[in-house]
Amino acid sequence: MSENILVIGSGGREHALCWKLADSPLVKSIYCAPGSVGISSILKVDSVNLQVEDTTALAAWCKEKAINLVIIGPEDPLANGIVDALSTHGIKCFGPTKAGAQIEANKDWSKKFMSKYQIPTARYQSFTAAEEAKEFIKKAPFPALVVKASGLAAGKGVVVASSKEEACAAVDAILTDSKYGSAGETVVIEELLEGDEVSVLAFTDGETVSMMPPAQDHKRIGDGDTGPNTGGMGAYCPCPLITPEQLADVKEQVLQRAVDGLKKEGIKYVGVLYAGMMVTKSGPMTLEFNCRFGDPETQVLMLLLETDLYTITKACVDGNLKQVQVKWETEMSAVGVVIASKGYPETSTKGCVISGLSKVQSRPNIMVFHSGVARGANESLVTAGGRVMLVAAKRSSLRSAASVATSAAADIDFPGAQYRKDIAHRAFSNSLTHEE
Ligand code: AMP
Ligand code: GLY
Repeated sequence: MSENILVIGSGGREHALCWKLADSPLVKSIYCAPGSVGISSILKVDSVNLQVEDTTALAAWCKEKAINLVIIGPEDPLANGIVDALSTHGIKCFGPTKAGAQIEANKDWSKKFMSKYQIPTARYQSFTAAEEAKEFIKKAPFPALVVKASGLAAGKGVVVASSKEEACAAVDAILTDSKYGSAGETVVIEELLEGDEVSVLAFTDGETVSMMPPAQDHKRIGDGDTGPNTGGMGAYCPCPLITPEQLADVKEQVLQRAVDGLKKEGIKYVGVLYAGMMVTKSGPMTLEFNCRFGDPETQVLMLLLETDLYTITKACVDGNLKQVQVKWETEMSAVGVVIASKGYPETSTKGCVISGLSKVQSRPNIMVFHSGVARGANESLVTAGGRVMLVAAKRSSLRSAASVATSAAADIDFPGAQYRKDIAHRAFSNSLTHEE
């Protein structure tokens, strides 16, 4: 037991990653920057206050602490080149370089890449001039209703319009009114796809792809997928809305093809490649790639991962993922329900005392991962953000996991707490479902 790890990030995703990494007998200590109250409560894990943008100082700190591996949670540091910078100091990183992170951070580049390597995706065209973009929306031979700012816009740069007028208004907001600043200098106009959205993530060392079981996120605030979009109100895994045959296609035609294509472009892509898929009537189509683990998908995925996460991430960095057999608890299901604070997603409420946690955490196979929680007076925990925490349950069926996680969410209380009572509902209502 001698390995020291630094995890970058502070959300529920990083809480789940730290929890799973701490389970490894190979790992001595884990630092998480900036971490959180929940992350610090894990044995072997400390939260540290580091300026991750100052990569020279960060590299010096890593050397001082004998860090063997840095795992990067969010997309921003990846897109800013943290891996390139730390690598020049000889520090090993789980995550792609700046060039690799373009697959998420530059949608125009990503779409061109998908076309070049024949990765199934929606038809599209990119524009920098508003008039041309609007002309295209009016005349395209398909419903060109999805308008995306090409750059990173904190998950907010996509408009799925219900009319051409609405799509044109989105073009004006992004290109003319610069709603997302430089992230919106180019817009991607895409064909509207219909179907079920499924997140398919994979570990990769730049050659081998090891696919994780499919998961589904719930973007809308309200039951029945209604109301405004959020950062994700819950997730479940495995998601039965994609067949094993379709998953095999996603592995070969999307994930492996992308990793091979990146290699041809001179990019050795190491880390997690996340394919956001739409399972349409004519098969799975790629909506987007992310260059990292998903949140909240990671919280449920980590509950089902059997193999040592440190061994997997180290193998990716060392280029020998092929030699690791990544195992998942295939007979089990995990469901995670997010509890958000009052006003979310428009606003959030801070400082409300959270109760009921000890009752929930004493139950078997239930985990609570913090997203926006702070320490209050007298050792209490208080809300500190929009999404506050995710409570996840692992059970032998999806139905039972959903019911246990939802009732556990009801036991956690603070003024204004809101959560969805129907996480995993699409798995139970869709005719494609195999479980029913
Ligand atoms: P993205 O960040 O590209 O995944 O887009 C965010 C969300 O917009 C996705 O999770 C989908 O719900 C939706 N979306 C993106 N592209 C499309 C598309 N071509 N057709 C329908 N919905 C889409
Ligand atoms: N679950 C969506 C994301 O991580 O981007």
